[in-house]
Amino acid sequence: MIFETLKPQVLSLVIDASKTIDERLLAVCELLENNIEYYNWVGFYFKNGDKNELKLGPYVGEPTDHTIIPFGKGICGQVALSNENFVVPDISAQDNYIACSINVKAEIVIPIFVNEVNVGQIDIDSNTPNPFTTNDEQFLEFVCRQVADLL
Ligand code: SME
Repeated sequence: MIFETLKPQVLSLVIDASKTIDERLLAVCELLENNIEYYNWVGFYFKNGDKNELKLGPYVGEPTDHTIIPFGKGICGQVALSNENFVVPDISAQDNYIACSINVKAEIVIPIFVNEVNVGQIDIDSNTPNPFTTNDEQFLEFVCRQVADLL
């Protein structure tokens, strides 16, 4: 199972003290995008200081104009408020959605908690319809827990 293979690799990237935190986060994005065929854009958003908005962090995939997302807007902004995983099998069925690329069919966003506070999220876009299962959620929750330890 690809996720079990990737978990120790995520751990070793996250604890690599020779790199900055952003370099480590980028390496995690690259690992996921390179190894999971239906992960086509992988990035982190974090709360922007005291503002009720998210700011784009390290990512791989097509550049996006959405470097700042107000809380409540789009899938990412909703997760900033709900503190819940958000799995979108078909983005065309979502009203509150921010389109980044015409190729995207599905999205998953998992929040990152530090001391039980929602500080950001990992966001993954897929060009494959309905690709995500609870295995993705559990794996990405693992990734978010490791990232939380860095912050
Ligand atoms: N689709 C997201 C915006 C971020 S991009 O996917 C990179 C949303 O609706 O929040």
